[in-house]
Amino acid sequence: MAGLARVPDGSVDLILTDPPYNLGKDYGNASDQQTMEDYLAWTEAWIDAALPKLKPNGSLYIFLTWRYSPEIFVMLKKRMTMMNEIIWDRRVPSMGGSTRSFSSVHDTIGFFVRRKDYYFDLDAVRIAYDAETKKARSRSIFVGAKWLEVGYNPKDLWSVSRLHREHAERVDHPTQKPLEIIERMVKASCPPDGVVMDLFMGSGTTAVAARRCGRDFVGFELNPEYCDIARRRLEALAETGKPLSDPQGQTPPPRRGRRPKTVPAPNEALEQE
Ligand SMILES: C[S@@+](CC[C@H](N)C(=O)[O-])C[C@H]1O[C@@H](n2cnc3c(N)ncnc32)[C@H](O)[C@@H]1O
Repeated sequence: MAGLARVPDGSVDLILTDPPYNLGKDYGNASDQQTMEDYLAWTEAWIDAALPKLKPNGSLYIFLTWRYSPEIFVMLKKRMTMMNEIIWDRRVPSMGGSTRSFSSVHDTIGFFVRRKDYYFDLDAVRIAYDAETKKARSRSIFVGAKWLEVGYNPKDLWSVSRLHREHAERVDHPTQKPLEIIERMVKASCPPDGVVMDLFMGSGTTAVAARRCGRDFVGFELNPEYCDIARRRLEALAETGKPLSDPQGQTPPPRRGRRPKTVPAPNEALEQE
């Protein structure tokens, strides 16, 4: 909260954040092990501290699960306009699971905006049709169809595997999010050269995604070990043009006319409160 107070009001294009879900995980701190009342009061406090940092045409994405998304979406709906509930299907394999309820295999992501003229670049995140679909649509009525060429809207059900230990992208953080998801949000909702803010950086996925997409970032992380991981991921990206590992084999886009940036001093990038 102290670090957040130093971020100027109206300076952030996108808040993209993945807070503790309060499911009892061990992040080296008690942030995920609060009573329901404390957790919701704390959530409301950081939301109120964070929202003034957004530009008027800015957006917010928040990762949650079904456990507290109802309460937290209501908090946010009192302050912003809800555009989507995105379901992240973590592609959990069908093995065992709960015996007294249905196994939960998705995260719930809220997408909120402040005003009608919010920034949103759908073309940057369209998904190309595969060759088979294009071929199936090759009849004359489809020839020249723009939608076939530009690809489709990713919709609000995102089926992307969680990161297993054996994933090349994986680092030592219990709830690391896949770059594929975070980069889609950055490209769609933060203008090129804009600023993304993540209040709960963890292993620095948002920072790495922002850099790879040519955006700036500001963020915070309580656990110094995770800060180190985030710094190492950013350093690897600066040195090689790729994160610690690069599952998609993509290199980041050039920074369009701006001077190349060095990895910022630790406290500039990631606050350790
Ligand atoms: C769900 S994880 C974020 C994971 C991240 N998206 C990634 O891909 O690695 C939430 C993080 O919030 C951190 N955290 C908890 N309370 C915090 C606080 N008050 N300020 C900053 N970070 C905090 C935890 O240590 C944890 O690493």
